[in-house]
Amino acid sequence: MDRIRIVGGNELNGTIPISGAKNAALPLMIASLLTDDTLTLENVPHLADVEQLIRILGNHGVDYSVNGRREKQNEGYSRTINFSARNIVDTTAPYELVSKMRASFWVVGPLLARMGEAKVSLPGGCAIGTRPVDLFLDGLQALGADIDVESGYVLAKTRNGRLVGNRFMFPKVSVGATHVMLMAASLAKGETVLENAAREPEIVNLAECLNAMGAKISGAGTSTITIDGVDSLSGARHRVIPDRIETGTYAMAVAMTGGNVLLEGARADLLSGALETIGQSGAAITEEATGIRVYRNGNGIQPVDVSTAPFPGFPTDLQAQFMGLMTMANGKSKITETIFENRFMHVQELARLGAHITLSGQTAMVEGVARLKGAPVMATDLRASVSLVIAGLAAEGETTVNRVYHLDRGFERLEEKLSNCGAVIERLSS
Ligand code: UD1
Repeated sequence: MDRIRIVGGNELNGTIPISGAKNAALPLMIASLLTDDTLTLENVPHLADVEQLIRILGNHGVDYSVNGRREKQNEGYSRTINFSARNIVDTTAPYELVSKMRASFWVVGPLLARMGEAKVSLPGGCAIGTRPVDLFLDGLQALGADIDVESGYVLAKTRNGRLVGNRFMFPKVSVGATHVMLMAASLAKGETVLENAAREPEIVNLAECLNAMGAKISGAGTSTITIDGVDSLSGARHRVIPDRIETGTYAMAVAMTGGNVLLEGARADLLSGALETIGQSGAAITEEATGIRVYRNGNGIQPVDVSTAPFPGFPTDLQAQFMGLMTMANGKSKITETIFENRFMHVQELARLGAHITLSGQTAMVEGVARLKGAPVMATDLRASVSLVIAGLAAEGETTVNRVYHLDRGFERLEEKLSNCGAVIERLSS
């Protein structure tokens, strides 16, 4: 199993190109199931989760080509990929595939909308809490689907071959359920109004793509989204937005190590207040024509309290990294996780590097220390793993991060991007 070895202590200086957003690319790829035309997606990151979803979609009959050819080009970098679901050959998403990645459950929406039926295994994914699917099932039922859960599978069917538009209020904000309802309602008969919808930039990116395919969606990015169902959707060409989580992660790496880095292609509007929060910790953050510049020189890291929240609040996907940053702050900070239970698995690993953190329910109290010291640590989930990497960059001596397959799910060319900026970081294969 691969490991990452880091020798900490160097500042980061230079340019880090920001990749296409994993969390935007996945629903966009799934949207290809809605049409028998070709959907061309630009800036698709080269990540294990994307490859896994390509396999899952292939199982349903989705053909793909990279830059017009099937072979891999630009190995390891964001690419343009054509997806074509001309013939859906299977409406079942089996356990062996879905259990590896939670987002693959989302195929339930487009399969049901286009084919009138779907059989999808209950999902797996990061071990960060129970992550139920009740909101998806309630939403699809509101659109007239009959749903059964049997032997670990969701069996969904339309009554008369087509979903029917309706008003649906999400009892809780869910990114995934909002994606699925957008896709399903786009092909439903009549109007759907979604209330308390997720407002994440990835939702807007999907809605824009669906509209380019002929859907009639308005209000994406607000909590009320209206979808006027159409009979069919066509192909389109659409660009994946830059990854705001990757952006925030590298911004915090610089805030932690010191230095001056241009996050090339990053968009500040996608991060909303999160950049301000990182700025409050002592990093100077400025927007430039080609990206976002992060700079910290000499000043200590200031403690900042943070509570995660749906967009535009502080993202749960940056919570572990922010905790990493706070472990070296000049004082105490309080970090509250409100989205997922059990998303503090990085705490005991950060403690191995010398961090002082106490947990009480969904809140972590972090008492900053003057220095961290390198140690072997274990990656537990995608975002937790990268918090260990950035802490390792700031720690004295050597840190090895084990189980890095979690990182490969969501961070494109991490070692290369960081070592180009002066970090000592390498992958050890074993
Ligand atoms: C997406 C992101 C993930 C991010 C999360 C929150 C992708 C591929 N993943 O995950 O990186 O951390 O948004 O920003 O985009 N819930 C229910 N019932 C449901 C669905 C969700 O109770 O049917 C709960 C979840 O357990 C969680 C909360 O709602 O507590 C938010 O989850 P959700 O927004 O759905 O997360 P994902 O879409 O899975």
